[in-house]
Amino acid sequence: MAAPRLSATAQAHANIALAKYWGKLDDAENLPATPSLSLTLDRLFSRTKVSFEPGLSEDTVVLDGTRASEPRRARVSALLDRVRKLAGFGHRAEVRSFNNFPTASGLASSASGFAALAFAATHAAGLELAPSAISDLARQSSASAARSLFGGLVELGAGERVASPLSPASPLDLRLVVAVVTAESKAVGSTDGMRLTRETSPYYGAWVAHAPAVFERIRAGLLEGSFSAVGEATEQSALLMHASMFGADPPLVYLSSTTFAILERLRSLREAGTLAYGTMDAGPHVKVLCLPESVARVVSSLEEIPAVRETIICAAGPSAHLIEAPV
Ligand code: PMV
Repeated sequence: MAAPRLSATAQAHANIALAKYWGKLDDAENLPATPSLSLTLDRLFSRTKVSFEPGLSEDTVVLDGTRASEPRRARVSALLDRVRKLAGFGHRAEVRSFNNFPTASGLASSASGFAALAFAATHAAGLELAPSAISDLARQSSASAARSLFGGLVELGAGERVASPLSPASPLDLRLVVAVVTAESKAVGSTDGMRLTRETSPYYGAWVAHAPAVFERIRAGLLEGSFSAVGEATEQSALLMHASMFGADPPLVYLSSTTFAILERLRSLREAGTLAYGTMDAGPHVKVLCLPESVARVVSSLEEIPAVRETIICAAGPSAHLIEAPV
């Protein structure tokens, strides 16, 4: 093992699942109940600096310039504990992180955040781990974070510990236009939301049973280069997942009237020959999957909807990496 260099800064990019993960097979191990397949995005990222300091009495965590709340600090410390155990030292750390997009609003900040944290912490500790081992560390904090270790299209099987890039590569050159609807934090975090759905929704079992078939349609469409097959199944995966949440008690509704206005607009675009499909996570934003030649049409159409605050045009982004920039 190399001598610990004690400080490192990493950048990891957000990913959006085309085939969704919602629900855990095992809470303690944080294993996903459904297979997922995502696109890592070029424009949205987290940058995280980890400095292990022998004199510190506890981990300190600053997120977007503000000291993290205790629950968030504890989630960061839990990942650092796993890294300390592997490195064989007990040094506490100073962690500084920022996202170049709104935190915790269904824009996948936990995915890029925990991937950047795992990448920076393992390098700061001098551990020479393969990306798959870092993916496993990140997954234990947030299953979607396992996917942000890798660039482009990435899959994580049900019950799997490690994500991997889709292979062979898809011939499709995908774009994802993020329609930002609000910058407010979500009311229910994904861990609590998944537990509530599993424990109370009569549709949870149906979602888990059906998700693998939708995942397979997306995977096959990507490998064959069939964009409409990928798009149709992507929209279906999101709506099946949200249907399982609507069935929870109390109901879990992350979507807003603007979300549905956007989905309606996408349907009209498709009827007029522009292929564009929406997907939503634990928030009201819609991420619109399309091909490069449709981007201008999709953006101008989304920007006609008054409650759409911003559109961000994304393509496939890179895997997690070290950077020199200050955080
Ligand atoms: O990994 P978590 O706990 O942030 O959950 C992510 C869940 C969704 O974003 C809704 C779906 C997904 O597969 O990313």
